[in-house]
Amino acid sequence: MQPRKYEGIIKKYREFLPEIDDEFIISINEGNTPLIKSRNVYKIINPDIEIYFKYEGLNPTGSFKDRGMTMAVSKAVADGSKAIICASTGNTSAAAAAYAARAGIKSFVLIPEGKIAMGKLSQALMHGSVVMQIQGNFDDALIIAKEISEEFEVTLVNSVNPYRIEGQKTASFEIADELGKAPDYHILPVGNAGNITAYWNGYKEYKQAGKIQNLPKMLGFQAAGAAPIVLNHIVKEPHTIATAIRIGNPASWQKAVKAKEESGGLIEAVTDEDLLSAYALLARTEGIFCEPASAITLAGLIQLNKRGFFKKGDVCVLTLTGHGLKDPQNAIKVSSEPIVVPCDKKSVLKTMELI
Ligand code: F0G
Repeated sequence: MQPRKYEGIIKKYREFLPEIDDEFIISINEGNTPLIKSRNVYKIINPDIEIYFKYEGLNPTGSFKDRGMTMAVSKAVADGSKAIICASTGNTSAAAAAYAARAGIKSFVLIPEGKIAMGKLSQALMHGSVVMQIQGNFDDALIIAKEISEEFEVTLVNSVNPYRIEGQKTASFEIADELGKAPDYHILPVGNAGNITAYWNGYKEYKQAGKIQNLPKMLGFQAAGAAPIVLNHIVKEPHTIATAIRIGNPASWQKAVKAKEESGGLIEAVTDEDLLSAYALLARTEGIFCEPASAITLAGLIQLNKRGFFKKGDVCVLTLTGHGLKDPQNAIKVSSEPIVVPCDKKSVLKTMELI
């Protein structure tokens, strides 16, 4: 048999995606990320449930945004666009910058000043984007990006661009392909609310196509200081250590509520303290390093489990949206300091408590 090359989500899931000619596809082989079964942490939380991590940090730019960006940028190129723009808390800008570089078009990104993880900032700069730090938050930046895209020939690649959502839904397909069904629960962080919308669409479309018989309940989590959907009102000055989801007026707000309601799921808030402890717990028990916003999924699961939410045999999939290396500063903050040791074997052995 001829080995089949993997060439990204558009070629893999073409029948479920908007049509696009091969010549316009801009892909960095995104997708095909691992679904990792918990080996340890489930035993600490609840040995009667199964936990899987969809590790989206292993996409080419280190987050799930690549799935949506391959679709949005390919479509922009097919339509003759020469430039893209986005507002971002960091990951969208990293993906936009990378895919624009590959397409040979310009990218403009608006990020909230001082509230973006270093790794993400370095990516946008490195790929040659015009990076503008706005003296405001993500919600303010999105308004400006939207207006510019309406007035000038610059394509908006935030998730209000429907092609972004189309690409992102392919993560549901991969999970269903691997499990042979949908999980009982799918747990996601909620920021601008595009991803929970995309996953829910993906599961519904797969069921309609007869690929799966069941649908999951969608469980979304927002940071307590940036939880507009939970509070049911706009948060003017959102705050959380998880800068990726520091959003007070999500663009896909109503669609996220719909995903929650149609699936019989929920959207709840988690404190920064709980998300940081889940962030460290995951790294220390499973060997999986994700960014703080991604760890809200595990914190959310723990929160629900304490209330006796899950029953024996439940299968839970948690999307770990971004790689931990995006945000080394927070990782160092929740860890112990490196130990300074004199340069001799005896001192090292002493520190190791071997002598
Ligand atoms: N996790 C990470 C790591 C993210 O970067 C984001 C969103 C989310 C979760 C939330 O996903 O917005 O679809 O609900 N980041 C956007 C950005 C806002 O600009 O990178 P969502």
